[in-house]
Amino acid sequence: EAERDSLKTKIKALLKEKNAQIVAHYYVDAELQALAEETGGKVADSLEMANFGAQSDADILVVCGVRFMGETAKMLSPEKTILMPDLEANCSLDIGCPAKEFAEFCKQYPDRKVVVYANTSVEVKAIADWVVTSGNALNIVNHLKEQGEKIIWAPDRHLGHWIQKETGMDMILWQGQCIVHNEFQVYELKSLKEKHPDAKVLVHPESPEEVVDLADVVGSTRVMIEAVRDLPDQEFIVATDLGIFYKMQQLAPEKKLIVAPTASKDGHCISCAHCPWMAMNGLENLYHCLRDSTGEILIEENIRQKALASVNRMLEFSR
Ligand code: 13P
Ligand code: SF4
Repeated sequence: EAERDSLKTKIKALLKEKNAQIVAHYYVDAELQALAEETGGKVADSLEMANFGAQSDADILVVCGVRFMGETAKMLSPEKTILMPDLEANCSLDIGCPAKEFAEFCKQYPDRKVVVYANTSVEVKAIADWVVTSGNALNIVNHLKEQGEKIIWAPDRHLGHWIQKETGMDMILWQGQCIVHNEFQVYELKSLKEKHPDAKVLVHPESPEEVVDLADVVGSTRVMIEAVRDLPDQEFIVATDLGIFYKMQQLAPEKKLIVAPTASKDGHCISCAHCPWMAMNGLENLYHCLRDSTGEILIEENIRQKALASVNRMLEFSR
């Protein structure tokens, strides 16, 4: 405990000295989220992380999250130094959609707009016409539909399928998945619902269709947090990464939050959803990256410009 406190004190001093800010995702360790808030940084979903980074006047942004979040920050703020505690913190959606293969895939459908989820590499974003997050995907796809477009969607097949169902859009889906949300089980969720009949069920749309079908609220991390804060209900079953409980508890301490397990035994949760890449962010590596300026995100300018065009389209649409 004393060691952790001393690390936090050193991190705070470095943040001041270097005019740096922490931008953290809701899925990272509660300790990092608290530290970001305490030091004038931001805890947010991937869309708000991008917005905050672009508007901040810090010289250095330390992005506690996964690689695509650091890349988006660099795309939007090329003049800032963007650091990550661990550059290996990736995402199965990003890994499962290599730029070269994706470019080949898109070539087969030249008459379609290319819409990619934020959870992709800068090279994939450079191929796309639009970038979306789970916070704005429905609105953007609806907008494209109104314009008479057809689209290619990548990489998350569950999110893509959900959007297809909600909007009726003509979509060709890349078959990627999030290894965390893909694990939620219909059986587990059904039996939890029976045990807690008054609880509202919150599900991230990266989950399988049958799990999404059991939800009262489907949405981005931010939408789920706001549901806990704003709905009159007192109990919630939460099917997403357990990092999210920090913010939910902070905003609605009186409410009962129930973890949707990814596996259970004799009625007890034996495995919960937690992204192994988000978990690579810790106090120790955060301190080292700030102290030594390691884990820097660098992007080739030509690629950055191309990817930026599709990210900016999204940000302008969401404003
Ligand atoms: P949000 O855009 O909802 O924050 O989600 C990002 C993510 O990685 C979900 O797994
Ligand atoms: Fe990627 Fe899933 Fe981890 Fe989010 S939770 S970063 S989508 S692997």
